[in-house]
Amino acid sequence: MAKSILILGACGQIGTELTYALRQKHGKDCVVASDIREGDATLMASGPFELLDATNYSALEDVVMHYEIEEVYLMAAMLSATAEKFPMRAWNLNMNSLFNVLNLAKEKKISKIFWPSSIAVFGPNTPKEATEQHTIMEPSTVYGISKQSGERWCQYYYEKYGVDVRSVRYPGLISWKTQPGGGTTDYAVEIYHKAIETQTYTCFLKKGTTLPMMFMDDAIKATLAIMEAPETQIKIRSSYNLAAISFAPEEIAASIALHITNFKMKYEPDFRQQIADSWPSSINDDSARKDWGWQHSFDLEKTTKEMLTNLG
Ligand code: SER
Repeated sequence: MAKSILILGACGQIGTELTYALRQKHGKDCVVASDIREGDATLMASGPFELLDATNYSALEDVVMHYEIEEVYLMAAMLSATAEKFPMRAWNLNMNSLFNVLNLAKEKKISKIFWPSSIAVFGPNTPKEATEQHTIMEPSTVYGISKQSGERWCQYYYEKYGVDVRSVRYPGLISWKTQPGGGTTDYAVEIYHKAIETQTYTCFLKKGTTLPMMFMDDAIKATLAIMEAPETQIKIRSSYNLAAISFAPEEIAASIALHITNFKMKYEPDFRQQIADSWPSSINDDSARKDWGWQHSFDLEKTTKEMLTNLG
């Protein structure tokens, strides 16, 4: 029998594409999309949808029981830049939604969880280049603190209660189907929209701010791969480092300028610069590659081509 899957935060940047990918794989009726608001017409027409607040345990439990859900993908979260403005709201959303799914699994109401962590778990004292899986982790943002705490709780629930929870630390994600919201790496998506619309972009990070990034197709591939891997291959139960490419604003600008020759970029760094400065510039993801065969496919050039073709 096909398994039933629930996606929380299905209308966001990752949730949308994950919903399509899982529906293609398992059939549309097996994948229930949910969010606190409706998604666009294409998403809403693509299969079952529930309005659902991931912090509301009893509403979540009702949906899980009604659809006999086995797997939950928890994609609802407040990202780094917005979380700095609303610290307590971010903490409540990011932590309570996680506790709700972990507790559903502890009570054997669901059997498997995907929960994303982030490069934001690292902080200003973490070595910046090829950041190791196990290293100094002193996050300085509300979002990073919530993700690091979440990682500890995932490992705790795995060890104490046998909860099968799997996680990757996503880098900044670049995609064209749904815009990101409230992140520090969002500039790497905005830049393509503005390059097409006005041939100019004012970047909120300064030159030389190299950050780890990834094209969405790779992020979805990693998500499906870690969830499908046999349990014995998942050796890290906090969250796996995951990497593809790293670049600074001037490098993505140069890759766009190869296609849009009159493209111009200005720099006006704001409060997000400090967040970016606290994060690594590249990530060592050897464990993911070794344990469950992770491989990325998109470099910066291929990412730029995909973005400009699909948005243009
Ligand atoms: N893309 C996220 C952010 O910028 C990092 O996980 O907040």
